[in-house]
Amino acid sequence: MKVLVIGKGGREHALVWKLAQSPRVEQVFCAPGNAGTALDGVNVPIDVNDFVYLLRFAKKENIGLTVVGPEDPLANGIVDAFQAEGLRIFGPSKAAAQIEASKVYSKKLMRHADVPTAEFRVFDHPEPARKYIETREYPVVVKADGLAAGKGVIVCTTTEEAIAAVNTIMVREEFGRAAGRQVVVEKRVEGEELSVMALVAGRTIISLAPSQDHKRAFDGDTGPNTGGMGAYSPAPLGTHELMSEIETNALIPTVHAMKRARTPFRGILYAGVIVTNQGTRILEYNCRLGDPETQPVLMRLKTDLCELLEAVVDDRLGDFSEDRLEWDPRPAVCVVIASGGYPGPFTTGKMIQGLDEAALVPDVKVFHAGTKLEPGGMVVTDGGRVLGVTALGDTLAMAKARAYEAVAKISFPGAFYRKDIADKALGKGI
Ligand code: GLY
Repeated sequence: MKVLVIGKGGREHALVWKLAQSPRVEQVFCAPGNAGTALDGVNVPIDVNDFVYLLRFAKKENIGLTVVGPEDPLANGIVDAFQAEGLRIFGPSKAAAQIEASKVYSKKLMRHADVPTAEFRVFDHPEPARKYIETREYPVVVKADGLAAGKGVIVCTTTEEAIAAVNTIMVREEFGRAAGRQVVVEKRVEGEELSVMALVAGRTIISLAPSQDHKRAFDGDTGPNTGGMGAYSPAPLGTHELMSEIETNALIPTVHAMKRARTPFRGILYAGVIVTNQGTRILEYNCRLGDPETQPVLMRLKTDLCELLEAVVDDRLGDFSEDRLEWDPRPAVCVVIASGGYPGPFTTGKMIQGLDEAALVPDVKVFHAGTKLEPGGMVVTDGGRVLGVTALGDTLAMAKARAYEAVAKISFPGAFYRKDIADKALGKGI
């Protein structure tokens, strides 16, 4: 079978790499892809939201399964478009993707399904939102309702910051008119974050191994929020008991509520969880795999990923039980190397050196994100997050050491990375 992966980040490179290992897969295409997906598969220069061309390509190449990486095409209805043409595609429908694409929908769903989440209010005008913020005795998070390229969630420390966030989203409409029509103002909860990604089809839910992301740009969880500067899996915080609690109190009621509302979820449901002194809370839901969490998770997955994704698409995920997922017992650590300036402005086109040397470090895979393959085989930077150097090790400390050994071999002008990925789990604190 031929497979098409949609996207161009590190998550999509990991998907291409893993799917290419399946005996069921003859060839993996990636649209539009990066230098890494060009090496492990075949790139197709079509934008993720160009459904007309993607459909035309899928039909022409007789693609047996399309796998969607990012949230944008899902929120725009790519799954509905492919299914309307009788094509098999992995991901939720446009209606179900609202769980990530609309923060208002997501929070109301959680309230309705009795899922533990931070207390919140929804506003469709700035003045009442500002008044509400002034009466809060705790720090808040202000969320634009719609997708805002990962920037629409503003974590505030002071009342002034929160009011400024309302103005950014609703008055200046910096994330667009639609995204800023409504805001969620919610209580900021403190604790350690955990990423729980689960395969969902019908009423069947199978959680993948827990992982932890590092959202801040710099060591010690300082600096601005990013898409994620590194991840590791399994995250010891996600004990068996905690994972069962999250399934019982969050994933199951959410999936059942969506089914009852006739917007059943099929695909990956990713819960951003925060573990607080008062118990676990769901910070947000995403309708796709996490990036960079996917890189260490897929590095450890031994089960045929293609079979798993097909089981979801064909509504027979029940054939797999959680125990049938096979994992490499060794932990994996992914360190993201980013362009200088990220998550702010940065320049691209920098030549990347040392990729071949890094690939020689045992049990290491260098997943590409913002990279481009130039004629002649040179790889240059093409985005904020450039590479996700991922390593397995007998212990988490060994996986970390191996990942950093490979990172040290790679260079490009302005490159930076965090030096403390996985330290929280290693008991060093951050
Ligand atoms: N790593 C965070 C995300 O994928 O949303």
